[in-house]
Amino acid sequence: MKLLKVTDLHVSYGAITAVKGVSFHVNEGEIVTLIGANGAGKTTVMHAISGLLKPASGTIEFLKKNISTTAPHKIIAQGLVQVPEGRRIFAKMTVKENLSMGAYLKKAKANDYQEIYSLFPRLHERRRQLAGTLSGGEQQMLAIGRALMSKPKMLLLDEPSMGLAPILVKEIFRIIKECNNAGVTILLVEQNANMALSIADRAYVLETGLVALEGSAEDLIANDDVKKAYLGA
Ligand SMILES: Nc1ncnc2c1ncn2[C@@H]1O[C@H](COP(=O)(O)OP(=O)(O)OP(=O)(O)O)[C@@H](O)[C@H]1O
Ligand SMILES: [Mg+2]
Repeated sequence: MKLLKVTDLHVSYGAITAVKGVSFHVNEGEIVTLIGANGAGKTTVMHAISGLLKPASGTIEFLKKNISTTAPHKIIAQGLVQVPEGRRIFAKMTVKENLSMGAYLKKAKANDYQEIYSLFPRLHERRRQLAGTLSGGEQQMLAIGRALMSKPKMLLLDEPSMGLAPILVKEIFRIIKECNNAGVTILLVEQNANMALSIADRAYVLETGLVALEGSAEDLIANDDVKKAYLGA
């Protein structure tokens, strides 16, 4: 079943059209990754899906409903939750308070925290610490954990490995895979194309606001153009 279906999406910033007719879909249970150079339009696509940017044209369907003009909080309530680029945790709140905010309209139960802590033991150790004092990797874990508190059907992850040491990159990707195994569908934006393709089912390559290439992760890893441009081979 197509959980998310984006058709002929155009998004502009004033006179600049950053996304120029992008179409793709994500099936229920999949990990799909968007790959592309700086400025290709990946974050713009993510923001249009989560409702932070209004498309100039095109449709975005989630669970077969057009959400392209739906308010961000209503999109979250339907189970589609974005973990933004740059994390945006609440620095002056503790780790646990940040998680409680993620529960959104529902009140968080002890069990909800336990599920997050079992995925991220580090957050359990740090649960009373102010989030602003966490390391970069810990903040990323918290941002993902906070998103999971609302029990989403689908997560939008924008550059979850940005700025992390290699060992933490591995850890974050392991956790993304684990969330997916637990039933969460994932749309992942990454510059670390190697890692992204290693856990993804399918991928789309964005170039200057258009889909240049799409295919199974396996096929794209083997593609010479992709190797040259994105895999550092
Ligand atoms: N607020 C804005 N106003 C004007 N132009 C913008 C704005 N935000 C993004 N753009 C432009 O839109 C294009 C796509 O940007 P976007 O952030 O979606 O790229 P990206 O693929 O996420 O890049 P990166 O890998 O660097 O995060 C870029 O050319 C960028 O300069
Ligand atoms: Mg971006």
